[in-house]
Amino acid sequence: MTVKKKTRFFKSLRFRIMIILLILGIVPSVIVTQLMIYNYETQALEVRASAVRAQCAILSNQIIKENYLNDSSSEAVNSKLELLSNIYGGRVLLVDKDFRIVKDTYHVDEEKTLISPGVIRCFKTGEVTDYSRNGQIMQLAVPVKSADVPQIQGAMLVTVSCSEIMATMVEMEQQGMLIIAIIVVLSIFLSYFLSTVLVKPLARVTKSIEDLTDGYQKDEISVPDYTETELITDAFNKMLARMKVLDESRSEFVSNVSHELKTPMTSMKVLADSLVGQEGVPEELYQEFMHDITAEIDRENRIITDLLTLVKMDKKTADLSIQHMDINQLLEDILKRLQPIADKRNIDLILDSFRPVEADVDELKFTSAISNLVENAIKYNVDDGWVRVSLDADHKYFYVTVADSGMGIPEDSIDRIFERFYRVDKSHSREIGGTGLGLAITRSTIAMHHGVIKVFSREGEGTTFSVRIPLSYIP
Ligand SMILES: Nc1ncnc2c1ncn2[C@@H]1O[C@H](COP(=O)(O)OP(=O)(O)OP(=O)(O)O)[C@@H](O)[C@H]1O
Ligand SMILES: [Mg+2]
Repeated sequence: MTVKKKTRFFKSLRFRIMIILLILGIVPSVIVTQLMIYNYETQALEVRASAVRAQCAILSNQIIKENYLNDSSSEAVNSKLELLSNIYGGRVLLVDKDFRIVKDTYHVDEEKTLISPGVIRCFKTGEVTDYSRNGQIMQLAVPVKSADVPQIQGAMLVTVSCSEIMATMVEMEQQGMLIIAIIVVLSIFLSYFLSTVLVKPLARVTKSIEDLTDGYQKDEISVPDYTETELITDAFNKMLARMKVLDESRSEFVSNVSHELKTPMTSMKVLADSLVGQEGVPEELYQEFMHDITAEIDRENRIITDLLTLVKMDKKTADLSIQHMDINQLLEDILKRLQPIADKRNIDLILDSFRPVEADVDELKFTSAISNLVENAIKYNVDDGWVRVSLDADHKYFYVTVADSGMGIPEDSIDRIFERFYRVDKSHSREIGGTGLGLAITRSTIAMHHGVIKVFSREGEGTTFSVRIPLSYIP
């Protein structure tokens, strides 16, 4: 495995599932075996201790009865003490009230004094005390008393060997280890198998997506194995649909652009050809054709300029140069500039200012956006009609409406007029001389000012565009 593949494996869901399953298999089995061993140990030691305690109780009765603590010559007690130490493979020490060792079954420490914490505790509490349990031996301190003599007369210190218990424990531990090892091996296999099965649907999602990216034959993917994979594929399908729409609109745009750019070219070619093909063309015809050619060049130029404007806005980097402007003044200027065009068709241009409005706008862009609306209102108007521009504001926004008495927009076109190159009536509009980019630019400009534009229209009655823009611009 290469380093990259290795890190990919360790980061994979499959690896994590494997680890979780392994932990789930191993941890409980380790805990169970350890608990079993611990339980066995405590129980076995407890059984042994109570057996010793019982023996000691019987012995202490006899010790008191025979006054063994003062006179240790009793054979019966001696042999019983020896027997006790032999049975449990240990040692018995008998201590009297003055901490003097009366009897040692090892015969090493007799007549010596023994003051150990175990003995002291045994005298104090008068109870049988297990006072040590380490390694292979267990030590018990049992008080010497009887039913007739309840005061503690002495203490019996019994050391008991626990080596068989320990040996059994070691054996159990080995068996436990073996069981754990088997469980580990089984867990590894099981987790490998399970993780493969669990992760498979995800691999299927990846495969479906890859198949799709190789070619667009299928429209969507579907992996309904899990709710999660269903959600992923649904989201992916949505994205795919959106990409398709984008793709279609892009190719439509490209074909529109080519078409629009070709039209003036074709006209120029026709005009130029007819001049080239004729001999002795009169000067006036030259003049006229050249004039037409210049007009076509201007048209071509305008389309390219508009396109560049739109492309710049699309990039989102188009920066506005915002200034605090007198909007009333801006609108007045726009109307003044367009007055001559309106006059040609005897259209009334009216400005209704409800109040003085100052706002943050990019002067050039805002002016061109509103100009485009007023221009449209004039262009798509009837002779002797009117165009009414109004300006109003509240504490947050200002509102510009451009209403006209023109031909109106058919209902099925209303939603499309902001599209690039869209014109309601292609032939008629061409006569009027538009490219269909104006409203697209207008809407982009208004959006850049964080504003909105809406249109209301009734065919044959007129159209109203209303624009709402915030008074202060917040980037
Ligand atoms: N006030 C209006 N009344 C009726 N139709 C309109 C009005 N404004 C726009 N339209 C319709 O919407 C179409 C798109 O308008 P837009 O301003 O985008 O393009 P254009 O005026 O044809 O060309 P351009 O503005 O690029 O020179 C127009 O062709 C026209 O059919
Ligand atoms: Mg226009």
